[in-house]
Amino acid sequence: MASILLTGGAGYIGSHTYVALCEAGHQVTILDDFSNADRSVPQRLQQITGAPVRCLEGSVLDTKFLAGVFAGQRFDAVVHFAARKAVGESVEKPLDYIETNCQGLITLLRAMEQAGVFRLVFSSSATVYGIPDETPTPETAPRRAMNPYGFTKIAGEGILEQLGQNDPRWAFGTLRYFNPAGAHSSALIGEDPSDIPNNLMPFIARVATGDLPELAVFGDDYDTPDGTGVRDYIHVEDLAHGHVLSLQALLRENESHLVNLGTGRGYSVLEMLAAYSRACGRDLPYRIAPRRAGDVPVYCAIPDKARALLGFQARRDLDDMCRSSWNWISGPHAAGKSG
Ligand code: WQD
Repeated sequence: MASILLTGGAGYIGSHTYVALCEAGHQVTILDDFSNADRSVPQRLQQITGAPVRCLEGSVLDTKFLAGVFAGQRFDAVVHFAARKAVGESVEKPLDYIETNCQGLITLLRAMEQAGVFRLVFSSSATVYGIPDETPTPETAPRRAMNPYGFTKIAGEGILEQLGQNDPRWAFGTLRYFNPAGAHSSALIGEDPSDIPNNLMPFIARVATGDLPELAVFGDDYDTPDGTGVRDYIHVEDLAHGHVLSLQALLRENESHLVNLGTGRGYSVLEMLAAYSRACGRDLPYRIAPRRAGDVPVYCAIPDKARALLGFQARRDLDDMCRSSWNWISGPHAAGKSG
C-alpha cells in the first residue's frame, strides 16, 4: 500500500482514478480547487469506496498551500490531474492554460522535491501529436503543438524529461490519453453534464436527455468507412486502471515511462451515435454540419507499449462506454458538474 496525493482528484478522470487507487489498496488524498469539479464528488466517492475521503481544497499554484500539504502527510507519489483541458478554451485563454498547466506543474514539482517525493504520474494527451503523419500513432511520433492546450502538455512532458534525465532521484509515468468516455459502473460519478460540452459523448448524452435537440456531426466526407471522424475512445475506468499500473511500475522500478493509453480500435461519430441509441433505447436525431477546424479524419493509438511495459489492456468497448454514460447522465447525480 502506498500513500498517494491525487491532484485534480474530484474531476472526471481524477475521481475515477481515486476509486481505482483505493480498490488497489492505496491510501489516497485528493487535492482539488473545485474549479471544474462538483463539491459533492468526495461524498459520492465515499459511497463508492465505503471509506472516508481525505480531500484538501486548494490550488497547485499555491506554494504555501502545497508546502502545508506535504508537511502534513508523508506521500510516496503524486498522480497529477489538476490542469485545464479544453482545447477551444485554451485558444481564448492561452495564458490561463500556460499558468495553470505549466507553472502549476513546476510549483508542484518544487514542493515534491522539498518534501523528498520523487514519483509522479503525469496526465498528458494524444493532443501532443497534433495532426499525426501516421495513424494509428506510436509514442515515437513527433510532438506538434496545434493549440495552447497541446503546447502545455508538450511543455509538461519536456519539463519531466529534462528533470528525469538530469536528476536520477526522479521517475515519471507520462500517460497520453486518447479519447476518454463513459462513467463509473455505479452511476455515482461521470463526465461534466452541465457546461457546454467539449467532446462528442457529452454532446450525444445531452441529446439523449433532451437538453439538446440534435447532434451536429462535424463532417461526413472524411476518408473513413462512413465518412465521419474516427477516434480511439477509451472507457474512463480502463483509463483509471492504467494510472494504477503506471504508479505501481514507478514504485517498483524507479524508472520513467511514457505510453499511449488507448485501445487501438477506432469508432466513428455515427458508430458512437448508434451505440448511444442502443444504450438509451431510442434513435437520436442528428444533422450533418460542416467540418470542425483542426479536426483530423482518424486519431488512434498504437497501444502496444503500455501493454508491454505496464501490462495495460483496455477491456471495455463502445457499448460499455455508452451504457455507463447513459446510466450516469440519466441518474440522480448528474445534476452537478464534473466528477
Ligand atoms: C471527437 C469526434 C469530432 C462533437 C478532444 C481534444 C483532445 C482530448 C480529447 C484532452 C471528432 C466529432 C464532436 C460534436 C462531432 N482532450 N464531433 N460533433 O477532438 O478528438 O479530442 O478531446 O486531452 O485534446 O482535442 O474529441 O470529442 O471533440 O471529437 O461530430 O458535437 O467527434 O469532429 O471527429 P477530439 P471530440
